[in-house]
Formats: sequence, structure tokens, C-alpha cells
Amino acid sequence: MPYYRVVGEVPRKRHVQFRRPDGGLYAEELMGEEGFSSDSSLLYHRHLPTAIVKAEAVEPDEAAVLTPNLPLSPRHFRTQDLPAGGDLVTGRGLIAGNADVRMSYAATEAPSGLYRNSMGDECVYVASGRVTFESTYGAIEAGEGDYVVVPTGTIHRWVPQGRVTAFVIEASGHIRPPKRYLSKYGQFLEHAPYCERDLRTPAEPLTAEGEDVPVLVRTRGGLTRLVYRNHPFDVVGWDGCLYPYAFNINDFEPIVKGIHAPPPVHQTFEGPNFVICSFCPRPLDFHPDAVPIPYNHHNVDSDELMFYAGGDYTARKGSGIDVGSVSLHPAGFTHGPQPGAVEAVLEAVRQGHTRTNELAVMVDTFRPLDLGPAGLSVEDPAYAWTWSR
Ligand SMILES: [Fe+2]
Repeated sequence: MPYYRVVGEVPRKRHVQFRRPDGGLYAEELMGEEGFSSDSSLLYHRHLPTAIVKAEAVEPDEAAVLTPNLPLSPRHFRTQDLPAGGDLVTGRGLIAGNADVRMSYAATEAPSGLYRNSMGDECVYVASGRVTFESTYGAIEAGEGDYVVVPTGTIHRWVPQGRVTAFVIEASGHIRPPKRYLSKYGQFLEHAPYCERDLRTPAEPLTAEGEDVPVLVRTRGGLTRLVYRNHPFDVVGWDGCLYPYAFNINDFEPIVKGIHAPPPVHQTFEGPNFVICSFCPRPLDFHPDAVPIPYNHHNVDSDELMFYAGGDYTARKGSGIDVGSVSLHPAGFTHGPQPGAVEAVLEAVRQGHTRTNELAVMVDTFRPLDLGPAGLSVEDPAYAWTWSR
């Protein structure tokens, strides 16, 4: 994140002696992206953050195996039908992915163990329920419509209050606001659909006691369980420009035109070889002759995966897609409004309809998406042929 935050106690200068009440030194840790050449934060631990006492292999996750989208076709996955279970880390059912990004769905009530993803940032979209995100940086209370962006390497856990459902985006690098929304020094510009005030960050340190504490670590090589001598939640203060944050989709201010605007106006984040867009309730396109839903389009360089989070997605009427559904429209297939949807929306406009109440999260990838076992287990095989009418 581009802007500076300070939480808890930090010394007046970086890299100087900073002592605990008992006279011992706090252990300073730099969390930094791109070597020492991008955003970073300095964290001050009561104990050494390097002290591991055990490393255990974790069985490879067979549920993470991907299958090519062959024969090529548009897909509809009903996450509504996936069984609940596990937690927000281990209970993720893989829907689709490639070497750049993986999308999963989870429905659970159980708290997760401590987890560190060392492969990339995660963006967890809370579709329903309430959950506390706890981390070395502190806690964030999250609820329906929140994107929680977790920087690579952040040790954290998820503690739901009741049942939580989430759409999870795991990147192979960093997830950031689009560059075009930012000044050259990183401040959100006036035309951006959200800004710093919309981002919620940990407000105070979060500490916990414990010894021999396991942390599940995801790396490119697989999963490992590292056991730490002391509980990693021992940070008394941190400062810098790298930290987890939450952004609620309802704080995204939609950009509306007289005639239909393409998805880049909905862009919320960018990652390596993918973008994340938010489709939010908004006035319909207002030119007197507007066709206020998408035109048929063939994004020759993109696969387009959409999670229908709420409301009523006008362009998919009659397709069987409902709240909780995920659609995949791959490169190689032209898509657009479902057959009949243009006529239906024009009739609705004639009847006085002026707004859309759709709520959806879209991930456009620049390399083909393969299909995950959880997605395939709840696929609606009739979906492709809803385009044939
Ligand atoms: Fe599309």
C-alpha cells in the first residue's frame, strides 16, 4: 500500500536500539517487497521472529489439481452447492486457476490455524457473515462485501463469528490498486473510484502468548508446517507502507456513462497477469438510445471469471446463474448478454427501470484458466447451451 501508517510503539528512528520494559531489545523485522526496493514495514517483536523449532512436511493437496478447460466452453459453477467445511484456509474449494492466480470458494464456521502464504498476496472477498482477520500487524473486523488484501508473507488467521462464505483470490505476486488511480507518489487521484479513506487497516497491536506454535506456510514447492518457539503475534508496534487492509465493495463509487462503459471502469485491483473488478449497483446508462448492458465481446487475451455476489445480474437473466454462482467465459468464445437480455432490459427501461442492483466480483486473467475440482464438482453442464437459443 502506498501510504504510511504507524500502529503501537515504534522507536523515534529506524534501526536503533528499542528496549522492552525488562531492558531487553525488541527484535526489529523488515517486511519488504521486491527485495529492498519497494513498499515495506518495520515490525517490533517481543521475541525473535526467526526462532523456529521444527519443520514438518504437509501432504500435497490433491484438491488443488487443475484440469484444462477442454473441450473449450463457457462454464457455470454453483458454489451454492459446495459442502461447507474446513476453515478459511484449509476449506478452500478450488474453482479455477493458472500459474498467476487461483480462485476458490469457502463456506465455514471454524477458525483457521496460523497461515503464511509466501507465494503471493491474497484477496479474500467476504460474501456473507462476519470474520475477524488476525495478524502480526493487528486485527481487522470484516463482513459482507469486504475485500481483505493480505500481503505476501503475513502470518495471520481467520476467526469467523458464525457461518462465513468467501471467494478467495490467491495471486502469484502482489495485488495493488491500479497504477492509473495513483499519483506518481502513490496517492489516490480524484478520478479513482475509491481512496485512502475507504481502506481499513489494523488500528492497534495484537499480541498472544504461546510456545511451539505451528504456522502453515505455502511456498511454490508446496506446504510446510513451521513450528515457532514463540507465538508470532508478539508485535508491539510497526510502521510503514506495507500491511493488510480491507475495502468494502459498497465503498466503490461506480463510474457511469451515457452509453455502456466497459469493465475497466469497474477495476478495483491489479495483480500479476490479472485484474479484479467490482460491478456495483448504479444508475443505468442514460443516453436516450442506450443499450444499457454489455455488447457481445471477445477479449482475445483474457479469460473472464465472475463471482455473482448479490443483487440481480441483468445480462445473465435466464441462464440459471444466481447469487453465489461463478461463470467462466474463456478466450476463444464470444460472450455478451444472455440471449433475450437486451430486449428484456430495453422493455424494463420503457417501464421506468433506471438502475441496476447487480453486485459481482470479476477476475480477468491474461493467461487461460484451468478448472479446479471444486468448480467441476458443482458445474451446471447445461450452461454452455443457454447461449444457443
Ligand atoms: Fe465479459
